Amino acid sequence: MPEAASAAFSFPSNHETPMQDPLSYQVALPTRLRFGPGASDTLAQEAALLGGNAFVLLDPFLKSSALEGALVASLSAAGVRTNLWHEIVPNPRAATCNSAAAKARDLGVDLVIAIGGGSTIDAAKAVSLGITNGGDVWDFTSRRNAQVRVPEKRGLPLIAVPTNAGTGAEITPFAVLSSPERKLKATIIHPFCYPDVALVDPNLHLTKPRRLTASTGIDTFLHAFEGFIGTRPNGWTDVFSIRAMELVAAHLPTACDNPDDLSARVSMAEACYMAGITLGNIGVGIPHALGQAMGALKDTPHGESCAACLVPTVRWTLPVAEERLARVSAIFDPSCAGRPVADASQMLPSILETFMNSIGLTGGFEQLGLSRDEIEPLIDIATTNYGQDVGCSRRAAGHEDLRQIVLNSL
Ligand SMILES: [Fe+2]
Repeated sequence: MPEAASAAFSFPSNHETPMQDPLSYQVALPTRLRFGPGASDTLAQEAALLGGNAFVLLDPFLKSSALEGALVASLSAAGVRTNLWHEIVPNPRAATCNSAAAKARDLGVDLVIAIGGGSTIDAAKAVSLGITNGGDVWDFTSRRNAQVRVPEKRGLPLIAVPTNAGTGAEITPFAVLSSPERKLKATIIHPFCYPDVALVDPNLHLTKPRRLTASTGIDTFLHAFEGFIGTRPNGWTDVFSIRAMELVAAHLPTACDNPDDLSARVSMAEACYMAGITLGNIGVGIPHALGQAMGALKDTPHGESCAACLVPTVRWTLPVAEERLARVSAIFDPSCAGRPVADASQMLPSILETFMNSIGLTGGFEQLGLSRDEIEPLIDIATTNYGQDVGCSRRAAGHEDLRQIVLNSL
């Protein structure tokens, strides 16, 4: 990948970054997406086009499942050898990815397949890069004031099959990794992280429990929302942001209440990849910066961690984003469309509180395990390893701003 192309993915790294000109932008969507109930049935066909010896990372819950058996059988029938790996945990560990990459190299694989949630897909991206580049995959992660290694080679071909609707990892250039020994999370941000093929099959999302559906679903909303009110939205990403937020507002409560409602799962799966397009092209904002830091400190679920500071962040952002916040209010409450912008935008915090209550997400940072003496370490991680997200806030955020948002999110 030429350096110029790679530089397109260097997100703003500090809060002094000016607003991006919405009339001048570039777009990237290099992953080929197959969408719809039954899309995962094409895995063997797609895999055979890309390789013959696959390293398959699977969520542990799939171990020895009927789904795993069926997929492995179909891959074998298509002439693709499978080497299964289940050692994935939420907030995937860089060290585990290094172990997986070493094993995959020994096996001589030529293809990586990820079947699972965002953690599995992110791990697969890191493993794919680790196989071809060697070394410690943590060195590829973006960290301020640290030596960051740029991958010299593409990873192995990667097929992503998400088993829930949340991170959009199946079509983004990011791999979020944890390093518990450092008490840090950080993200590989590079176009080599885009999967080659994504098979988004809402049938695989059925039966997911309410809490997981709510947590991953609010993550999808945040990808659309944070980009929409950030410094970098444009006409192309607005299309996906707005549609994704409409789908979440209309269908996430149903998906939470009725896990087997295929129509709701289809809508949330669409929202997920659409929000992923926004995320992959213009980044996120403060809820993700602080939420990722929570994940690093307390190993908490990603969506809930980011959602914990959503409403205080919206209140703090109100003075600089009234028009866009009013548009979001109207998505959740159509009566806001006829109100003055100032009134409609002021209603958004309570609208979002009501929505999150309806799906059972009521906790703040303290409920997630944060103590007051961990506030400063939380902000340090957010500004050091997720400064690119803080920099995407439409209202410039300094240390004291972040501290107030955290205090209001306890
Ligand atoms: Fe996220």
